[in-house]
Amino acid sequence: MEHVQLTAADLLLRPWRDEDAPAVRDALRDPAIAQWNPQGGDPIDDEVALLWVRRRADWSTGGHVSMAVTVATDGELLGSVSLHHIRDGDASIGYWTMPAARGRQVAVRAVVRLTDWAFTDLRLHRVELCHAVANPASCRVADRAGYAAEGTLRESYRYGDGRRYDEHLHARLATDPQVTR
Ligand SMILES: CC(C)(COP(=O)(O)OP(=O)(O)OC[C@H]1O[C@@H](n2cnc3c(N)ncnc32)[C@H](O)[C@@H]1OP(=O)(O)O)[C@@H](O)C(=O)NCCC(=O)NCCS
Repeated sequence: MEHVQLTAADLLLRPWRDEDAPAVRDALRDPAIAQWNPQGGDPIDDEVALLWVRRRADWSTGGHVSMAVTVATDGELLGSVSLHHIRDGDASIGYWTMPAARGRQVAVRAVVRLTDWAFTDLRLHRVELCHAVANPASCRVADRAGYAAEGTLRESYRYGDGRRYDEHLHARLATDPQVTR
């Protein structure tokens, strides 16, 4: 898949670059991100962060589209949004935002923009979003981004503290009403 970049008002969603690695290292060490977006494997150091951005910058398999969410004017890194498990018209979406960027609708706007692109350009039909029931901020992002709640998955995912948590499954279909943000 070819790299693209997307704009959403003052946000720019763009492919990851090597120079993002130090900010990614700090983000992945944030306790909330470490808990709700666990990376598994080795502790997060410079090398792990560089591998992380390089893996996400490689879209060649067509199985994922991973983007840095930045401020369009000055390039400040605000967060991450990605489609993964892209296959047969389906995908899942994931995200995090830097602690300093939270509460500004960054996650909602990034999820809405990437989802709209997935429906129009990738021609996907269904995108799923899962979050721990114990993570209400993520539930709010899902609701605000138009992802309908479809049910609760019991002890379905092992998060950063090693415990299994119940999750809410949300999804948006290409045929659902558009979301304006
Ligand atoms: C969840 C997360 C992505 C939200 O990012 P954000 O940029 O602050 O989200 P937004 O500003 O777009 O929207 C957040 C919404 O959640 C609400 N919210 C924030 N913290 C909340 C909390 N603890 N409980 C309930 N709602 C909360 C906000 O008020 C806002 O709702 P509003 O639009 O009605 O005001 C961010 O907190 C984060 O990265 N957390 C750690 C990692 C994580 O949870 N990743 C998701 C894994 S599924």
